[in-house]
Amino acid sequence: MSKSLVSSPVIKRLPRYYRFLGELERQGIVRISSRELSEMMGLTASQIRQDLNCFGGFGQQGYGYNVKELHSVISRILGIDAGNKTILIGAGNLGKAIASHIDFNKRGFRLIGIFDSNPEKCGKIISNLKISNMNTIESFCRSNHPVCAVLCIPKDAAKEIAPKLIELGIKGFWNFSHYDFAVDSGKKIIVENVHLTDSLMTLAYGLNNTDEEEN
Ligand code: NAI
Repeated sequence: MSKSLVSSPVIKRLPRYYRFLGELERQGIVRISSRELSEMMGLTASQIRQDLNCFGGFGQQGYGYNVKELHSVISRILGIDAGNKTILIGAGNLGKAIASHIDFNKRGFRLIGIFDSNPEKCGKIISNLKISNMNTIESFCRSNHPVCAVLCIPKDAAKEIAPKLIELGIKGFWNFSHYDFAVDSGKKIIVENVHLTDSLMTLAYGLNNTDEEEN
């Protein structure tokens, strides 16, 4: 099956497989059965077989999966080595935390520029990169051709800047702003929205719907 035909729930599970398999590889484990993997990951063995079959016939009856091989195949599918050139916009609390704590290189991205509209922030260093003034972003993009932008700016700022970034060649957004992307630019844009509070509210739902008798 080609990558584009793989369903998005399967794609969303791949980073988790990648993490678990990386851990197993570091522990020196050479092979693992779908049952063992399912017990570790809290999925069913048949779910795992179904997921991994989407990408070709991994795993052999009675042998299981070769951990190193499967890890490297999933890495290839995810594009971990792609080094997609990335810029981050908004060097405030969130932007600083993301630039300093996320290892972009190990996830398929290369952070090459950080921008902020506040001149007082410009020139400061985060993660070995100097914060540049927003008024240099156009020339930066024309010279360096980033393809991805991390948005750590308020909603209105994101709304204003997104179409410009698309014009400058940005194809993917890791969007922490609360701007709802519906960019009608005629270009194919990939947006991955992250809302930490959605996750928190899901937790609230879980806590409010716990079966009392289980406690
Ligand atoms: P902050 O105020 O510390 O930082 C915002 C930064 O963006 C500032 O440095 C500011 O100068 C810069 N900025 C504002 N307009 C800009 C523009 N047009 N171009 C370039 N830079 C610009 O705020 P914080 O805490 O870092 O949050 C940033 C945004 O992310 C907020 O709008 C907040 O709502 C959102 N947020 C989203 C979360 C999520 O889970 N998705 C979690 C936390 C914050």
